[in-house]
Amino acid sequence: MKQIFADLQVLTGISEADYATIAAHSTLTQSWIDDVVEAFYDTLFGYEKTSKVFPRGEAERPDREQTLRRWYMQVTSGNINEAFWWQQWLVGLIHIKVKVSNTYMLGMTSKVQQLFLEKCMTHLDSAEALKLYGAFKRVTDVVATLIAEGYFVNYVESLENVLGFNRGLIERMMEIEITKRIANLRSAT
Ligand code: HEM
Repeated sequence: MKQIFADLQVLTGISEADYATIAAHSTLTQSWIDDVVEAFYDTLFGYEKTSKVFPRGEAERPDREQTLRRWYMQVTSGNINEAFWWQQWLVGLIHIKVKVSNTYMLGMTSKVQQLFLEKCMTHLDSAEALKLYGAFKRVTDVVATLIAEGYFVNYVESLENVLGFNRGLIERMMEIEITKRIANLRSAT
């Protein structure tokens, strides 16, 4: 996780200044919480495929809303530290367990970002909106990447453990398989 986060700091430009920008606007952005939570779960429960992630149906909605509420309040508090990033890594692992694909997760990250942008544009002058949205986007892009990488890395490592394969052998076999797949896809297109 630490190396992935270090890479993302360089590539996205996320920094402590973003946390400070977010913290400075927390009263405003935390007042948007009901709209964010409603849009998030109306989308997930309104689409057949994502609604299947919740076996208890609407009965599960209050619990799930509580999880998102806690997450949104933490992000918008700007109180972001290493423990927070480790939590996002853990979400990837939990999402494997509850069968939330990265397609669903990234789709909803996009939805939250779009709603946040719309609200920034409505409530702030354009320079401040750009600054706040930029900070929020960097933080939530890094969150989404850590969830996706947490999902992928934990999935592959768990598979290796379950199947008892040796890492070096898997890497050599993967190289051959991937070369074959690239050739197949190229010849099909
Ligand atoms: C913006 C994208 C998302 C974020 C930031 C996010 C965040 C989280 C967090 C913080 C948890 C709690 C992890 C813990 O217990 O420590 C969680 C769990 C979970 N998430 Fe997500 N999630 C996202 C997208 C989704 C989507 C799209 C779905 C459904 C299609 C989903 C379904 C779930 C479920 C079912 C759990 C497990 C709850 C439980 O049984 O405790 N999440 N997620």
